[in-house]
Amino acid sequence: MIKLPGLIDPHVHLREPGATHKEDFDSGTSAALAGGITTVLAMPNTKPPIFDAETLDLALNAAKQKARCDYGQFVGAGPANANWNESGREALPLQAAGLKMYLDSTFGELRLDDMTLWMPHFENYPKNMPIVAHSESRSMAAAILFAAIYDRPVHIAHISLKEEVLLIKAARERGIKVTCEVCPHHLFLTKEDIPAISHGHPGRGEVRPRLATKEDVDALWRNLDVIDCFATDHAPHTIAEKDSDNPPPGFPGLETILPLLLTAVNDKRLTLNVLIEKMYTNPKRIFNLPDQPETWVEVDEDSIHEIKASEQLTRCGWTPFEGWQVKGKVRKVVLRGKTAFEDGKILAPAGYGKNVRG
Ligand code: NCD
Ligand code: ZN
Repeated sequence: MIKLPGLIDPHVHLREPGATHKEDFDSGTSAALAGGITTVLAMPNTKPPIFDAETLDLALNAAKQKARCDYGQFVGAGPANANWNESGREALPLQAAGLKMYLDSTFGELRLDDMTLWMPHFENYPKNMPIVAHSESRSMAAAILFAAIYDRPVHIAHISLKEEVLLIKAARERGIKVTCEVCPHHLFLTKEDIPAISHGHPGRGEVRPRLATKEDVDALWRNLDVIDCFATDHAPHTIAEKDSDNPPPGFPGLETILPLLLTAVNDKRLTLNVLIEKMYTNPKRIFNLPDQPETWVEVDEDSIHEIKASEQLTRCGWTPFEGWQVKGKVRKVVLRGKTAFEDGKILAPAGYGKNVRG
């Protein structure tokens, strides 16, 4: 039996408000607990997106009623909400996990058409609160330049390419305040795996950033010391949606991250200390998260089992890792003195989760 601290996932999509048939704060935080995760930070690309006091209240009220583990909620950067320091608005960033900026994809109200729209966010968002950038390849280089120009920390979401990890390494060596995360699917899958994931439905292989080459994946593993956090980018869509003519990108990941990484520990691809650093110590520091006293995760490190969507608590009903043999299973999660999960059963009631900015 191994005892781990309560793990932190700084990048999840819980689909509330607006798409609770895919996930909500109840099912998503249940999946988190089953995965050994006691804090989730939720992304703002919901319907409506979370970008002002009213929409933040929508998400936080739902979370307060339903969450079974601790949570934070990001606000999204849009073209017209960068006045973070205007009178009466100073409090808003303090209630949010951080600011999420979508720098290359377009997301309705979270659309930032050109870099002049990035500037006021970098100027006005409080420097002691996190900014997370969804930025791929060259737009990531632009995000790093913004971190340098405005001399403030920026966290790069889900890096997947060799050029990205090498650029972050170079930026850090020059003192730029950039941190980053990588997702299990970019460490354990390449684009060659898409046919096997798809089972004849190409939509199942769709994820952003896209699965990359073996050379990219090898570069991520070789440069693990540059990577601050492991994050799932848990992006649940139902199997019917994934198999439709217009499949949305995204993979679920809350219930598979720990078994996959424990298997890699068993294979000597990383150490347990590195796992704890990237799933607890570093995200706790980067996102300025409170202590969770009397909180731990008990793992049976010798349990060999098969990943099965049918056993998962996420509402989406599928996983790109279906049928994988993994070694290491979450047995029990104790959160703030209470057994929240044990032997496949969620024991924390809805509403037990606390807001990390509460
Ligand atoms: C994300 C989602 O489904 O919300 N999908 C994904 O593939 N990561 C959206 C996104 O970040 O592009
Ligand atoms: Zn995401």
